[in-house]
Amino acid sequence: MPNKTFFITGVDTNIGKTFVSLLLLLAFQQKGLNAGYMKPVETGVTINKDGSKNYLDGRRLKIDAGLLANLEIITPYAFQSPLSPYAASKLENKTICIKEILFKFYELNSMYDYMIVEGAGGMLVPLKKNHFVIDIARYIDAGVILVTKAGLGMINHTLLNIEYAKSHEIKISGIIINNALNENDESVLSNKKTLLEYTDVPVLGDIPYLRTEKDLNLKNRDLLKELASKYIDIENILG
Ligand SMILES: Nc1ncnc2c1ncn2[C@@H]1O[C@H](COP(=O)(O)OP(=O)(O)O)[C@@H](O)[C@H]1O
Ligand SMILES: [Mg+2]
Repeated sequence: MPNKTFFITGVDTNIGKTFVSLLLLLAFQQKGLNAGYMKPVETGVTINKDGSKNYLDGRRLKIDAGLLANLEIITPYAFQSPLSPYAASKLENKTICIKEILFKFYELNSMYDYMIVEGAGGMLVPLKKNHFVIDIARYIDAGVILVTKAGLGMINHTLLNIEYAKSHEIKISGIIINNALNENDESVLSNKKTLLEYTDVPVLGDIPYLRTEKDLNLKNRDLLKELASKYIDIENILG
């Protein structure tokens, strides 16, 4: 049965997980499908004088994809320290409870046909004692979408992540190449083809560096929808 829940991880932080999540939500919306988003744990979240939190990824997607759910459900755990969830939770004396994450996930899941769940950093970022962030994907039975870089080193990073997933019974749905770093070495042209000689995991998207994405500050939803249909293979994702 095709997946209805996708967990977005990346070969590194700042690789474009949030941006890819946004394009995926818009690609689902364009198909007339109702898709929700969750960012179970976020770190580096500052707190305002009135106690409200400056959620980053959740707020961005809520605005840019027009999501209705409130930010406390989208992101049940927000920490101020810009560290891994485990390190931040220890520093701030608040334990992350997996059941709480699952509870909020199921609440959101019941509102939508599809769910996009964004991890924090990469697969093996510590979540809590004896748990990694990628374990959430297993608990919610998600298909993992791995966001990878475009330039030199991408084959190594991508294959290592795929290998970990495969040997730990984590379903891997596909790879999305995203040139967030504006890499332009020679390998950018041949990496996708070479990568596919070494793995049977499909490439579900290949996004170039987008100057306009930064210039427009993600405010132009029509342009973003255009980008989503151009660069994301939604038919393949729907199965
Ligand atoms: N294809 C792209 N072209 C240009 N900028 C991008 C692209 N993908 C992501 N970015 C930018 O790179 C930065 C990191 O992306 P983000 O989605 O927040 O990464 P992550 O969620 O993995 O930390 C953001 O400023 C984002 O707007
Ligand atoms: Mg992010």
